[in-house]
Amino acid sequence: MTNRSRIMGVGMSVPSRVVTNHDLAAKMETTHEWIVERTGIEERRWVSPGETGAGLAAKASREAIEKAGIAAEDLDLIIYATLSPDIYFPGTGVLLQRELGIGHKGVPCLDIRQQCTGFIYGLSIADAYIRSGNFKHILLVGAEIQSTGLDVSTRGRDITVIFGDGAGAAVIGVATDEAHMILSTHIHADGTEAEILWTETPASRNHPRLSAEDLEAGKHFPQMKGKNVFKHAVTRMPQAIMEGMQANGIKSIADIDMVIPHQANLRINQMVAQMIGLPPEKMHNNIQKYGNTTAATIPICMHEAIELGKIKPGDLVCLVAFGAGLTWGSAFLRF
Ligand code: UT7
Repeated sequence: MTNRSRIMGVGMSVPSRVVTNHDLAAKMETTHEWIVERTGIEERRWVSPGETGAGLAAKASREAIEKAGIAAEDLDLIIYATLSPDIYFPGTGVLLQRELGIGHKGVPCLDIRQQCTGFIYGLSIADAYIRSGNFKHILLVGAEIQSTGLDVSTRGRDITVIFGDGAGAAVIGVATDEAHMILSTHIHADGTEAEILWTETPASRNHPRLSAEDLEAGKHFPQMKGKNVFKHAVTRMPQAIMEGMQANGIKSIADIDMVIPHQANLRINQMVAQMIGLPPEKMHNNIQKYGNTTAATIPICMHEAIELGKIKPGDLVCLVAFGAGLTWGSAFLRF
């Protein structure tokens, strides 16, 4: 049998600073009620000066490594998924590697984007590397610092109320039996409408990359056509779940123990559950506490579900995401 992969341990870390909807309402025209009704979000975590993506990622990674029962020195590869790198270049993966104190080992670091679908893309890469026999232990991180790039004024309220900061990590290793293994990953993208959720500048295609006019116009802040994104999300996420079910011969939704969806909007996830006939108790959401942490939502949500006993060893788990790009995908695994 060729190697198969499994998730050996999961960790998470969020900043300690809690930002409530009321805190945001003091800075822009919004209300706690509007945010809860449209998104489900009650509060999120935002970094304080000195906290970094690599720093949060290191904390999440140390927990994942410990849960996996290995040492940082055992890692063969680091995959770092983020749309908000700590600096323009080099990628944040090497900064995480340095924080973990394993720079001297020459462990390769692979930085990937794919926004909200970053963790699923990363899982598909990790799974392929393990199957190929190239690597035995891969650290996969989704980490995001959104708050330092948001327009905290009424102009940016549609996006700013949604995003939070945080990091989640998983160690992917070689499966030793069929009861604990990654069964499938399916990843997709369609760039036709890349601009419906994007940050336009700084951009290497511009001369200069960021001008005073760009700053004045707020082009360095993320922009979103929310309703369009919402419609695509509630179409693509059920498709990705069905694709994974078919590939694995899973005949009934009842066979799935837990769905961990990307946390973009509670209403999106509730609609997805309804569309596929999934009872609410079989989907874990924690957007209420953390907002949308982009590439970090799935490992953070999965970590919480494991801690709460909602995901148990051997359970059939579905991870599913949709995000900017547009990108989407799913993963099925026996935990
Ligand atoms: O993770 C990546 C994927 N992202 C997503 O999946 C996000 C998908 N989209 C959404 O979650 C929703 O579109 C939002 C939550 C962003 C917005 O909800 P919506 O129901 O689509 O509202 P809308 O953008 O159509 O805006 C409705 C009204 C507008 O006012 P008018 O034009 O009707 O007077 C907005 O200006 O709500 C206004 N509005 C707000 N009001 C209070 C927009 N943002 C806010 C706000 N507080 N924060």
